[in-house]
Amino acid sequence: MKKGTKKLALVLAAVMLTGILAGCGQSGADSQSSQAVSAENASSAESTQGGTIKFGTNPEFPPFEFVAAEGVIGTFDGIDMAIAKKIAEENGMEAEMESMEFDSLLVALQNGQIDAVIAGMTITEDRAKSVNFSTPYYTATQVMIVKEDSDIASAADMAGKKICVVQGYTGETCVNKMGYSYEAFKKGTEAVMELTNGKCDVVVIDSATAAKYVADNEGLKIVEDPDAFENEEYAIAVAKGNDELLEKINSAIEKMLEDGTISELAVQYLDAE
Ligand code: ARG
Repeated sequence: MKKGTKKLALVLAAVMLTGILAGCGQSGADSQSSQAVSAENASSAESTQGGTIKFGTNPEFPPFEFVAAEGVIGTFDGIDMAIAKKIAEENGMEAEMESMEFDSLLVALQNGQIDAVIAGMTITEDRAKSVNFSTPYYTATQVMIVKEDSDIASAADMAGKKICVVQGYTGETCVNKMGYSYEAFKKGTEAVMELTNGKCDVVVIDSATAAKYVADNEGLKIVEDPDAFENEEYAIAVAKGNDELLEKINSAIEKMLEDGTISELAVQYLDAE
């Protein structure tokens, strides 16, 4: 996967140099301005004082988070898990990881059940209303996974096709905004299985995860359409008002972007088959 690796390096360079924002033909919120709208809601702040950052994730999103026999945090492995561990270490703390459904992550954060969400989560205007986002650490885009012999070559070609997405992901929001009907699955693997079984024509999902699924399943390919799908930025979410933790996370992320740690992790996990 050398081609992907080179592209990834470019993408990462873009994250470092600019502050491009997310979505499908619509501008997202900017993580700085969302920080300014902080409310007095630091209920989860206490739990970080004991030296532990309790992260929440949904480990159904390779190469960012997946379950492995031996992961970097317990059985959790992936780019995000390595980043979470380093953020904690950088601040002399420990990283704890709780697994839950993607849809439940922001609610758990607002309830104070977890301190931070690290889940390949795209910054969106909507999400930034209820949580604060860290400095972005990765740029992605939505892509289409289709069968190798598919005639779908652009987002417009999805018209009249059976489209599969994952529930609550930005891919669902994009397809919804385009006005297409679709079926939403709980997991990316379920949507991809539907595709390989010929029960759906196209899966819309994040680029790096799509690359992983295409590498793991025969007969699939990726179709990109940068005019239809804009760049998205992944960031860590914390509760509004928990500025202390946000600062700790931001300084660690900035350091890891500068010293190349995040690019290295991305290359390492994207190349691993
Ligand atoms: N980037 C997409 C979003 O924010 C998908 C993230 C899915 N992440 C996960 N860990 N399941 O909606």
